[in-house]
Amino acid sequence: MTDLLNKNILLGVSGGIAAYKAAELCRLLIKQGASVRVVMSPAAEEFIRPLTFHALTGHAVYVELFDAEASNAMDHIELARWADLLLIAPATADTLAKLAQGYADNLLLTIALATESQIALAPAMNQQMYQKQATQDNLKTLASRSLLLWGPDEGEQACGESGPGRMLEPGHLLQKVLALFKPGRLQGLNVMITAGPTREAIDPVRYISNRSSGKMGYALAEAAINAGAKVTLVSGPVCLPVPGSAQLLTCQSADDMLQQVLSHINGIDIFIASAAVADYRPQQQAADKIKKSADEMTLKLVRNPDVLATVSSLEQRPFCVGFAAETADLETHARIKLQQKRLDVIAANWVHEKHSGFDVDENALSVFWAQGERQLERQSKTVIAAQLVDIIADLFHSASH
Ligand code: PMT
Repeated sequence: MTDLLNKNILLGVSGGIAAYKAAELCRLLIKQGASVRVVMSPAAEEFIRPLTFHALTGHAVYVELFDAEASNAMDHIELARWADLLLIAPATADTLAKLAQGYADNLLLTIALATESQIALAPAMNQQMYQKQATQDNLKTLASRSLLLWGPDEGEQACGESGPGRMLEPGHLLQKVLALFKPGRLQGLNVMITAGPTREAIDPVRYISNRSSGKMGYALAEAAINAGAKVTLVSGPVCLPVPGSAQLLTCQSADDMLQQVLSHINGIDIFIASAAVADYRPQQQAADKIKKSADEMTLKLVRNPDVLATVSSLEQRPFCVGFAAETADLETHARIKLQQKRLDVIAANWVHEKHSGFDVDENALSVFWAQGERQLERQSKTVIAAQLVDIIADLFHSASH
């Protein structure tokens, strides 16, 4: 792939445990056609050897401010001018603080001060350090100077703690770089995405729901934003940060979701239904908590409205993309849904496997439309969402011409 052909990326590596992931990021950038040079802070050398980056890029790695050998290749001012993007990954708390203050006591900081090109930072540190007011103030200062902040992620950390501060995965950072350089394929378009589960109330404290985490839908929202779209995210109850500029509309039940969708559907160009909407709801919703008395209890369920089918049968319908969650005969069921719900595209996933579908970070998709299909191999939902958005952009543009 050559999406980054002719792009010069200076990868800055500062001294944190996530430095080892910078090697994979370096490989991914080169695979996309980018020219990559690496500059390391002296502390980064404690975590990963310059030789690793030398082997990956085929070029000298810059560490010391006054390094005669590296200077013969390019000095720091030349490097600062050469870069189309300076991406510092990982960016430690110390490096962020020094950048915010304008320090230039190592080569990486000197280049950051000297460059006129875009700087992107992928923060990585212990969650307490990340949440400290000092770090938050530094991040605010850097953002106010138009440096891009990519991440951090939340989750388990190398120190054994859990929380915000993990560096974004290399594949995720690659998507950010691609989005930065690629002209948005959905520029100027309005995209609505449904995500997460619905909850169908039995009484004030109980409900019927499913295992959807919202990860697939939120990744799609981010990918559509990266592709230049204005995104409306209609979300059931999940615990995820709202992606970038998305407008969030929350809902609980399928009925709520339908109301939110229909009241904001005017002007939507592309509708993507990744939510796991409950097909049925209890016929009666008890006003008070149901007391246990009898040994058995029967719940009568009634059909919920189909949000996607309702949108696809509107007179002024957007381009409609559905999902199909299957445990058998994936293609047959997906193609039936494609036809019956009058969709333009359907993305089908297996949901009985451990590593794809509901509530995991990865997915694999079989994408079907009337005249074709594409298989997207298992990978992170971030990456697969970007690939699906690319396919949707292709099909949308060819349908509207
Ligand atoms: O949220 P995650 O944990 O990341 O998991 C992602 C996912 C597995 C939920 C997602 O990839 C997925 O498959 N979403 C669709 C789940 C689903 O409800 O599939 P379905 O085959 O039952 O429905 C077909 C389509 O109709 C879907 O686009 C669904 O959103 C839509 N639908 C279904 C019923 C209904 N009442 N209204 C709808 O809009």
